[in-house]
Amino acid sequence: MASSIQLVVLVLAYIQALQLSSCMGCKEEERQALLTFKQSLQDPGNRLSSWVGDHCCQWRGVGCDNGTGHIIELDLHNPYAFNIDESSPYNRRSLRGEIDPSLLQLKHLQYLDLSMNNFEGISVPEFISSLENLRHLNLSNAGFGGTIPHSLGNLTNLRVLSLFLHLDPRYFLLPELSIDNFQWLSHLRSLEHLDLRKVNLREADDWLHVMNTLPSLSELRLSSYLFGKVASLELLDLSSNEYINGELPVTLGSLCKLRSLDLSKNNISGDILEFIESSSGCIEDSLQLLDLSGNRLCGYLPNALGRFQNLKLVGLGSNLFTGPIPSSLGGLSSLQVLHLTGNKLSGNVPESLGQLSELVELRIASNMLQGSLSEAHFSNLTKLEFLFMSNNSLALNFRVGWVPPFQLKYIHLGSCQVGPLFPSWLRTQKGVVRLDMSNASISDHMPDWFWKSSPHISYLDLSDNQIKGKMPRSLKFKALSEIVLNSNLFEGPLPHFSSNVIYLDLSNNFFSGPIHPRVHKMLPRLQLLSLSSNLINGSIPLSLCKIYTLIALDLSKNQLSGQLPHCMWESSEFAALDFSNNNLSGVIPSSMGSLVSLESLHLGNNSLSGELPLSLQNCTELVTLDLGRNGFSGRIPPWIGESMSHLVILRLRSNMFSGGIPS
Ligand SMILES: *[C@@H]1O[C@H](CO)[C@@H](O)[C@H](O)[C@H]1NC(C)=O
Ligand SMILES: *[C@@H]1O[C@H](CO)[C@@H](O)[C@H](O)[C@H]1NC(C)=O
Ligand SMILES: *[C@@H]1O[C@H](CO)[C@@H](O)[C@H](O)[C@H]1NC(C)=O
Ligand SMILES: *[C@@H]1O[C@H](CO)[C@@H](O)[C@H](O)[C@H]1NC(C)=O
Ligand SMILES: *[C@@H]1O[C@H](CO)[C@@H](O)[C@H](O)[C@H]1NC(C)=O
Ligand SMILES: *[C@@H]1O[C@H](CO)[C@@H](O)[C@H](O)[C@H]1NC(C)=O
Ligand SMILES: *[C@@H]1O[C@H](CO)[C@@H](O)[C@H](O)[C@H]1NC(C)=O
Ligand SMILES: *[C@@H]1O[C@H](CO)[C@@H](O)[C@H](O)[C@H]1NC(C)=O
Ligand SMILES: *[C@@H]1O[C@H](CO)[C@@H](O)[C@H](O)[C@H]1NC(C)=O
Ligand SMILES: *[C@@H]1O[C@H](CO)[C@@H](O)[C@H](O)[C@H]1NC(C)=O
Ligand SMILES: *[C@@H]1O[C@H](CO)[C@@H](O)[C@H](O)[C@H]1NC(C)=O
Repeated sequence: MASSIQLVVLVLAYIQALQLSSCMGCKEEERQALLTFKQSLQDPGNRLSSWVGDHCCQWRGVGCDNGTGHIIELDLHNPYAFNIDESSPYNRRSLRGEIDPSLLQLKHLQYLDLSMNNFEGISVPEFISSLENLRHLNLSNAGFGGTIPHSLGNLTNLRVLSLFLHLDPRYFLLPELSIDNFQWLSHLRSLEHLDLRKVNLREADDWLHVMNTLPSLSELRLSSYLFGKVASLELLDLSSNEYINGELPVTLGSLCKLRSLDLSKNNISGDILEFIESSSGCIEDSLQLLDLSGNRLCGYLPNALGRFQNLKLVGLGSNLFTGPIPSSLGGLSSLQVLHLTGNKLSGNVPESLGQLSELVELRIASNMLQGSLSEAHFSNLTKLEFLFMSNNSLALNFRVGWVPPFQLKYIHLGSCQVGPLFPSWLRTQKGVVRLDMSNASISDHMPDWFWKSSPHISYLDLSDNQIKGKMPRSLKFKALSEIVLNSNLFEGPLPHFSSNVIYLDLSNNFFSGPIHPRVHKMLPRLQLLSLSSNLINGSIPLSLCKIYTLIALDLSKNQLSGQLPHCMWESSEFAALDFSNNNLSGVIPSSMGSLVSLESLHLGNNSLSGELPLSLQNCTELVTLDLGRNGFSGRIPPWIGESMSHLVILRLRSNMFSGGIPS
């Protein structure tokens, strides 16, 4: 019943759409223009397949004015993510070829987006500047090269002009687009948004003058180190560019309306003291985002940062800052993100940070911070979701039974002193997605509640502690995909994990008993499995060969016995296999030759015997081959030297090989 009603509704909607489009019409000369335009393009991905028939307003990417029927929009941007690889969907779906001047017939065009295609270095067509109604022109990442034509200055209705190129420096082979002067831009009186990231501006030295004359400009993204007094500028984004060098210009502090200053991921050096302390009162009030992370800034963090009352984001991570975290930061009552990770900050974490009632992300990992944190440091952090504190010399001292005000999603406390007891406050955190408490001085039993408290957890790292006890027989966490529990005191049988596990490291514990014979059904997506240094016995299950996602498998230093599995390994990316230091016997099965991408094979210190199978010749990528301490016999095969040209380590000692050593 329901489905036939749906069908009727669908058919009605379709008929309606047809009627709409026919009454909307489509100007014949505009339709012809589009067809000519299409003919000059190359469209390997057939993206313009809908460009047939009379109803050109219905064609993909074409938008008409509902009143007049004139085409006012042409949106042909390639929706696939940029990828230089020839066979990527991006490349296969890119439009190429020529841009035909027939587009000029679209006299009412307001919106033109050709971004993310690949016009392979042709110039930006001059004639675009005659499309005088254009308000929005996006030619970003479309493979245009050469100098941007001055005539674009004729497009006086333009509000948005976007010409940025791809930011990843690996793609340096893309054609270069440049601007030789900015004079023409000064005619674009309505321009609000200008994005010229990665466009070469080296010859254009009139930047400052021209930007000052653009009354509506509020968003500017450039790639050269240009600055100055631009009264109306609210957003300045020079991030991730061509490694801007030099010091932070003090004049930035006089940009009175600046809300957002993003200079992250450049190569800016010096300190920020002068910039912060000499800033005018107006920028102190206006600035909401300050991102200077990923530079080479050094010196102390100035206390005067606390005067920027409206800051929501402070990004100073990945620099060379030293000294303490200023306690004045605790007064930034709007602060949502504080990112100080990866500096050389020292001293205690100020208690005042506990007042940041809007804080969502606190990142202070990988510094040289010391001392202990108590409830007071978190007293008002009700909105905190991301806590990154790993890799300092910090201790957490909460009273047993503390109920935190927050619900965390990411908890990174690696190398903090969290123990000796397993932290009971974790029990209150129901939405944890990532938990890293590695090397956290915990020497306690794993509490049973833990395995029930965080149903959304996907990443769990408790390695390098002294956690004792058995794990539950089966873990129901559906989302769990990376599990790192190595170097603890876990014991008992191997638990059953959820089928989404990709990375599983249980090495260096006291797990015992066999590997489940149907492990490929339980862990079908596994890429890395390490069970090294446990008490695992029984034989290697055939089922392991059927995990076609495996990249590395380490079962070394256990008590495995029986023969190597005789099966064709199904993973095509298998790179490392370590069965050494067990009690395996029998021969190397010829099927081992199916591991054609193997780079390291460790079978040392077992009781393997017989001759090496000829099929091992298939393993041409081997870098390490360790067969020592076994009972292999026969001649050392000459093909080792012929097929395995990448070999760096070859260990054949303590076997029963005979004959000569092949040249
Ligand atoms: C024309 O009208 C349709 C239906 O109301 C609407 O979806 C579409 O966005 C309009 N097109 C333009 C260019 O305004
Ligand atoms: C221009 O196109 C690029 C790529 O499609 C897109 O990321 C960007 O947001 C567009 N710019 C504007 C202002 O719409
Ligand atoms: C467009 O600009 C160019 C160069 O700036 C100029 O020579 C030309 O006359 C302009 N064309 C129109 C239609 O305004
Ligand atoms: C970064 O700046 C330093 C000097 O401060 C300079 O030696 C280095 O070459 C710069 N790196 C790049 C990639 O520009
Ligand atoms: C916590 O925040 C509330 C509301 O923002 C405020 O009234 C209270 O004084 C703050 N307490 C502390 C200890 O900062
Ligand atoms: C730990 O922090 C130090 C700086 O204090 C840094 O050099 C090191 O790379 C960090 N280690 C990790 C694993 O992040
Ligand atoms: C473990 O933490 C201690 C400090 O508690 C630190 O000195 C050591 O480097 C950390 N080890 C690792 C492997 O991170
Ligand atoms: C594995 O070890 C357990 C004792 O830990 C023993 O009971 C069992 O028989 C062993 N299994 C095999 C196949 O050796
Ligand atoms: C060989 O493996 C056994 C365990 O099977 C281990 O006890 C012994 O120490 C290993 N020998 C060497 C030289 O690694
Ligand atoms: C190794 O396996 C053989 C049988 O293949 C068995 O006799 C021997 O006891 C085993 N050694 C150890 C240390 O488990
Ligand atoms: C060795 O490689 C050849 C060709 O790549 C393949 O046909 C053959 O099955 C492989 N041998 C084994 C044992 O997988």
